[in-house]
Amino acid sequence: MPLALLLGLLLFSATGQAQQSEQKQCVSCHTDAVNQGLHSIWQTAHGAAMGSGNAACVQCHGDSSEHRAQPTENPPQVSFGPSHPSRVETRNGQCLGCHQGNERLMWQGSAHHTEDVACNDCHQAHTNHDAVLDSRSQIEVCVGCHTPMQAQLRMPSRHPIKEGKTSCSDCHNPHGTTTDASLVGTSLNSTCIQCHSEKRGPFLFEHPPVAEDCSLCHRPHGSVNKDLLISRGPFLCQQCHSAAFHPSQLNDGSGLPSGSGNSSLLGSNCLNCHSQVHGSNHPSGGRLTR
Ligand code: HEC
Ligand code: HEC
Ligand code: HEC
Ligand code: HEC
Ligand code: HEC
Ligand code: HEC
Ligand code: HEC
Ligand code: HEC
Ligand code: HEC
Ligand code: HEC
Repeated sequence: MPLALLLGLLLFSATGQAQQSEQKQCVSCHTDAVNQGLHSIWQTAHGAAMGSGNAACVQCHGDSSEHRAQPTENPPQVSFGPSHPSRVETRNGQCLGCHQGNERLMWQGSAHHTEDVACNDCHQAHTNHDAVLDSRSQIEVCVGCHTPMQAQLRMPSRHPIKEGKTSCSDCHNPHGTTTDASLVGTSLNSTCIQCHSEKRGPFLFEHPPVAEDCSLCHRPHGSVNKDLLISRGPFLCQQCHSAAFHPSQLNDGSGLPSGSGNSSLLGSNCLNCHSQVHGSNHPSGGRLTR
């Protein structure tokens, strides 16, 4: 080998090494004093799993050699903001690199994916309290975008979401599922029945709409009517049962069941008599009255 070339090679590899060692560590610039709270990441599942120092940083932000050399000229390879956020696809791709499966099997094509919502619109990496994972604080993350929900969550009848006893993610998988509205169950009813199993049946006497779809009578989030009902009194039932039928209409008592021919009952709430509206197991509960 000609001497000049050999020398050249030696020189090249030497400068290569020099460049390598000049590459500053992320944390030597990004101290906790410069970026307050940034190092809380060591108290998270990520910190524990990814090891210390740069090894962790580059897993999410990429190697970022240009940024390390001239940080004010070049943003890191993958930035989640605040100043130069990468495209949503790039950011999400970085997270999905490790989190593709499980709960996120249906992410592609989900409402949030389609609407360009980023993982880090909901999740925070540099905190030991990722608000969206805590049922007490999750609601604020969600209604930050779903502002119309706020009114529903304050209605007289509602799921105890504000109290943290039920959370949005008890019913929804925000990463997407196969159902409408990304419900966690295989259907709306199976979602409700997770917690209200006594409404599942089977009953000796079924009320068909109950097994069909709880939302024929109930709203999921909030309602001005008691028990999250979509409407009040006889009107709820008269979506399906003829209004001309007893006792919603005066019919000289002839349409009334025997013993109840009192006009004061006319138009009163069907539930006064048909109290077992979800189904009855009583031997004579065929009319859902007991
Ligand atoms: C699990 C992925 C992940 C890891 C690991 C990670 N980051 Fe981040 N980083 C993020 C996300 C997401 C944000 C956006 C803000 C947030 O979620 O807290 C961010 C934001 C930042 C910011 C901007 C903060 C601001 O508000 O100005 C800096 C700087 C940063 N990261 C540096 C680092 C450094 C240094 C490391 C290694 C110690 C590191 N990151 C490790 C995901 C990560
Ligand atoms: C030589 C010091 C230095 C090193 C080394 C360095 N950074 Fe930075 N970084 C900065 C400075 C300065 C800024 C602010 C740049 C600006 O706002 O113009 C910054 C900004 C960032 C941001 C915020 C980007 C945004 O969109 O707001 C992230 C994230 C980040 N650095 C991550 C990293 C990671 C990860 C590493 C290691 C791979 C790293 N930095 C190495 C100095 C450095
Ligand atoms: C290099 C692989 C890797 C990358 C990249 C990564 N994670 Fe993780 N993540 C993990 C590991 C490992 C855990 C801890 C074990 C587990 O819970 O699966 C974890 C845990 C989590 C958890 C659960 C935290 C907890 O306290 O239970 C969330 C949420 C999460 N990651 C979101 C993200 C988001 C958002 C991003 C992108 C900003 C991201 N991850 C990037 C590997 C990764
Ligand atoms: C709309 C808000 C939202 C978005 C967007 C979102 N997440 Fe989540 N994520 C949540 C909530 C809420 C939970 C807790 C769900 C639960 O307890 O079932 C969660 C849980 C997780 C977990 C921990 C539980 C598990 O499944 O292992 C990981 C990891 C995770 N998300 C990763 C991601 C990644 C990666 C993205 C982006 C592709 C993403 N998330 C986008 C809200 C969101
Ligand atoms: C960054 C904004 C943003 C955040 C944060 C957010 N969403 Fe969404 N969400 C959207 C957009 C945009 C849509 C699509 C348009 C719509 O339906 O309003 C959507 C749609 C939905 C849908 C309908 C899904 C479907 O399949 O039809 C549900 C359910 C939902 N979000 C639940 C949540 C929950 C639960 C959280 C908190 C864990 C949350 N969202 C946080 C922006 C957001
Ligand atoms: C008790 C279960 C349950 C809880 C808790 C719940 N949802 Fe829903 N949500 C549903 C059901 C069921 C639907 C579908 C309604 C329909 O199709 O009639 C729905 C629909 C939605 C939709 C799409 C349609 C619409 O009304 O805009 C969004 C967005 C949504 N929910 C967001 C949220 C958010 C945000 C939270 C937490 C604040 C939350 N949900 C809590 C059950 C629930
Ligand atoms: C994660 C558990 C959970 C799921 C899933 C769930 N609920 Fe509930 N539901 C509750 C809790 C908790 C209460 C409050 C009970 C109490 O205060 O005694 C409640 C209360 C109710 C009430 C009474 C409201 C009132 O004003 O007193 C109705 C009606 C109801 N749920 C219907 C549904 C329907 C319909 C679904 C499916 C869309 C559903 N629930 C899904 C937990 C759940
Ligand atoms: C035909 C209309 C109708 C359908 C369909 C229906 N409900 Fe109801 N539900 C009612 C009425 C009316 C009340 C209030 C009277 C009462 O307490 O029985 C009620 C009350 C409730 C309550 C609160 C009181 C209690 O009994 O715990 C829960 C929880 C409930 N329904 C859950 C469900 C679930 C879950 C489904 C679907 C499996 C469902 N409902 C389907 C009409 C209906
Ligand atoms: C979504 C439609 C729908 C709603 C709303 C509805 N029902 Fe029904 N109901 C039915 C159907 C369908 C049957 C079965 C009719 C049949 O078998 O001929 C039925 C049967 C009944 C029966 C038993 C009749 C029999 O011959 O066995 C009673 C009683 C009854 N409903 C009362 C009510 C009351 C009270 C309400 C209001 C809380 C109500 N229904 C709301 C659809 C509905
Ligand atoms: C005063 C008590 C009472 C009230 C109020 C009442 N019902 Fe009835 N209902 C009965 C009795 C008792 C029967 C059984 C009659 C029979 O077997 O001949 C019955 C029967 C029915 C049947 C079954 C009819 C059939 O063809 O077998 C339906 C459906 C029904 N009621 C719906 C309603 C609706 C809807 C309302 C409210 C608009 C209502 N009921 C209010 C007592 C009542």
